[in-house]
Amino acid sequence: MQFDLIIKNAVLPDGREHMDIGCKDSLICAVERGLKAEAGTVIDAAGYLVSPPLIDPHFHMDATLSLGNPRLNQSGTLLEGINLWGELKPIQSVDDIIKRALAYCDLAVSMGIGAIRSHVDICDDSLTGVQALIEVRAQVADYLDLQLVAFPQDGVLRDPTAEVNLIRALDMGVDVVGGIPHFERTMADGATSVRRLCEIAAARGLMVDMHCDESDDPLSRHVETLAFETQRLGLQGRVTGSHLTSMHSMDNYYVSKLIPLMVEAGLHAVPNPLINIMLQGRHDTYPKRRGQTRVRELRDAGIVVGFGSDCVMDPWYSLGKADMLDVAHMGLHVGQLSSRDDMRWCFDAVTKNSARIMGLEGYGLEVGCQANMVLFQARDAIEAIRLRPTRLVTIRHGKVIARTEATISHLSLDGRADTLNPADFAPSSA
Ligand code: FE2
Repeated sequence: MQFDLIIKNAVLPDGREHMDIGCKDSLICAVERGLKAEAGTVIDAAGYLVSPPLIDPHFHMDATLSLGNPRLNQSGTLLEGINLWGELKPIQSVDDIIKRALAYCDLAVSMGIGAIRSHVDICDDSLTGVQALIEVRAQVADYLDLQLVAFPQDGVLRDPTAEVNLIRALDMGVDVVGGIPHFERTMADGATSVRRLCEIAAARGLMVDMHCDESDDPLSRHVETLAFETQRLGLQGRVTGSHLTSMHSMDNYYVSKLIPLMVEAGLHAVPNPLINIMLQGRHDTYPKRRGQTRVRELRDAGIVVGFGSDCVMDPWYSLGKADMLDVAHMGLHVGQLSSRDDMRWCFDAVTKNSARIMGLEGYGLEVGCQANMVLFQARDAIEAIRLRPTRLVTIRHGKVIARTEATISHLSLDGRADTLNPADFAPSSA
């Protein structure tokens, strides 16, 4: 068989070594050792890790790269971030957001990200962010899957025009229904918002992804309502609870009831480790809470858990570089996920788990999957998290779309410093 592209001698995320991957017509057509075939392009992976792309299941692309505009967040809290974002919204144009978002997408692709689920604030009667990100989604489609969530940042009930604007955004083509029940005026309004938003999603056949219980208050229990409404409306497997930070402070007895309800409803969970280790616990002295939901317990119960990045250089977070391996690294530490299996799972949390949460089709390294891959300068998934290494080659639909030169040397697991020739990783014509 004549292939368009062959990657030779790769390590796969599941640990298989010396694997060759053959691609034709944008699809993976062979994954085996010693593949005997010709190809227009051959890449020697030289024993480094080849994975399907990194996936970011939770981001805010309308706010990214706006750091300092119009001012910096002094308290470092979620609530000051929301206020600051409220100051920026009326003074930014569609073009401003498009320009920042496209710059971010270029960076994301160079860092091996293949898909992003971005919330877009619809609490703005002009729907500036929605207009901008729908345009960006179309412009980047050849190299990045961008999925948009209609996000009522100021509360779908608390903001008087939010529900109307949310419907308008969905009519314009936004993909997923969002929410923020812990920001509504009362617990009762929070519960009502969850019900209403799930009903809208059910009527339209859409997925749901709510900012849910992003709070240190152990009595913030909207995830219970989210699980209930998911069951009631038959939305199992299509609903995600993002953040879920109050779960870290909840009473253990209550959680022993809650997690089985979440499993029953087929909820997915998306913690955002970089952001919540920074934002949560700001009212604590010591002991100071970590601000991450119960990742291990949710995972062990069978819930699909993916790590999201949430923010890069915006009103909530001043740092970040579109590196999902930074996100996995922080999630691993905060969750104390230090066994070999746990660390490998953290790589899954920024790849295949997040792809499943987003409902991406054809994701993976099996025959028949989309030929979307990343070659990392790392020997395996654990080393990738440890080093957060150079993404040597990014492949989309069977074509190289980004390439970064190898670093001169890096310290591998056995303490050996590898000296690399960047030319080794350039695609060669057969
Ligand atoms: Fe968020």
